[in-house]
Amino acid sequence: MKTIDELLADGVSGKRVFVRADLNVPLADGTITDDGRIRAVLPTVKALAEAGAKVVVASHLGRPKGAPDPAFSLLPAAERLGELLGAPVAFAEDTVGPAAHDAVDGLQPGQVAVIENLRFNPGETSKDDTERGEFADRLAALADVYVGDGFGAVHRKHASVFDLPARLPHYAGYLIATEVGVLKKLTDDVKRPYAVVLGGAKVSDKLGVIDHLLEKADRILIGGGMAYTFLKAQGHEVGISLLQEDQIPAVKEYMKRAEERGVEFVLPVDVLVSPDFPDLKTKAPANPTTVAATAIPADQEGLDIGPETRKLYASKLADAATVFWNGPMGVFEHPDYAEGTKAVAQALVASDGFTVVGGGDSAAAVRTLGFDEKAFGHISTGGGASLEYLEGKTLPGLAALED
Ligand code: 3PG
Repeated sequence: MKTIDELLADGVSGKRVFVRADLNVPLADGTITDDGRIRAVLPTVKALAEAGAKVVVASHLGRPKGAPDPAFSLLPAAERLGELLGAPVAFAEDTVGPAAHDAVDGLQPGQVAVIENLRFNPGETSKDDTERGEFADRLAALADVYVGDGFGAVHRKHASVFDLPARLPHYAGYLIATEVGVLKKLTDDVKRPYAVVLGGAKVSDKLGVIDHLLEKADRILIGGGMAYTFLKAQGHEVGISLLQEDQIPAVKEYMKRAEERGVEFVLPVDVLVSPDFPDLKTKAPANPTTVAATAIPADQEGLDIGPETRKLYASKLADAATVFWNGPMGVFEHPDYAEGTKAVAQALVASDGFTVVGGGDSAAAVRTLGFDEKAFGHISTGGGASLEYLEGKTLPGLAALED
C-alpha cells in the first residue's frame, strides 16, 4: 500500500487530490456532538494543503436514501473542518454536478473544498457495479490523485471507497496507515495476556469477531445488551432485557469452544435493572436496582453492569498486555447507567498494556464521558470497519489501496 508520504515526496503542488474521509459525525439538531472523526483526518488534509495540493474532501454522513436530504448535509462537518484547519473551506452543494466542479475549479494550491454527502447520489452505495462505476467516473473527473483516509468506511464496497481508487493514482492517508498499524498489533504478534471487552446491543453484530478472537484472545468479557443473550444461553431468566433468542445456539457454541480452547469467557455477575427504559432526553433519575445477573426479575430489564461486575472486569483487565474494547456496557447516555462503561474506560486508562478502543459508540462514550483520549493507546474511528478487520475479512477500501 503506497502512503501519502510517497505522494508528498513526488510533489503534489497544484494537483487536485481527492481525499475520501469519514466525516460521519453524530449531529443533534444540526450541531456536531463529537468531532473526533474530523480531527482524525486533519493530518492528511493539512499535509496536502501545506504541500500546495488543491484538496477535495468527500465523505458520507448518515444513511440518506440516494437523494439530497438536508438532514444529512455535510455542511456542518465542512464548517468544523474549516475551524479546525484555521482556513476557509469551500463547500459544494452537490457531489459531481456544477457546484462541485465550480468549487474544485476555484481552488488555489493549498486550498480545501468539501463536496456534499456522497450518499446523495444513488451510485455511491449501489450494489450494481455499472451504476457505482458511473458515479466513480464522475468523481474521478474532479481529481488527479486519490487519497483514501476514511477508515470508518473501508468495509463498504462503495463507489468512493472501492471503485474510485481504481481510476486514479491512489495512496493511503495517515489515518488509514495508523489504524491498520494498530489493528495488526491486535491480530499478529499480540502481546499477552490479550483481553477483549465486547458490549453494545446486539450479539449478532459481534458474532464474527467473537468467532475470530476465540482463536487469538486469552479473555473475552461481555457487557451491554448482548450480555443478556449469553446469560439466557446459560439458562438464566433475563426478564424484559434485550434478547436475541435466535442467537442462543451460536452463543452456546462459542462458550463451549472457549472452554475447550482455554479462553476465559467472563459474563456479568450483577446488573442494574429497571422496569422502564430511561428517558435519554430529560435524563430524569431512573432509580435502578442492583440484582444478581442470575436473578433478573421477570418485569425488569438489565441496563448496565453492576458494581461487582465493574470490579471483576477491572481486575480482568489490570494485567492485560493488550486490550481491545468495542461497545458500551450499558445505556451510558443516561448518567444512572454510565458507571459500567466508565469503569471499563477507567480500567483501560489505568492499564500499562496496549489499549485500543474500537470506534462507534465506545469511542463516542470515551469522549462524552470526559476521558482524555491520550490516556488510551488508540481510539479507532471505525466501529464496523475495525470489527470486520478483526474478523479477518478483506475490506474493500483497503484492498483497493493495495495494488
Ligand atoms: C460508521 O459510522 O461506522 C461509518 O461512517 C460507516 O457508516 P455506515 O455504517 O453507514 O456505512
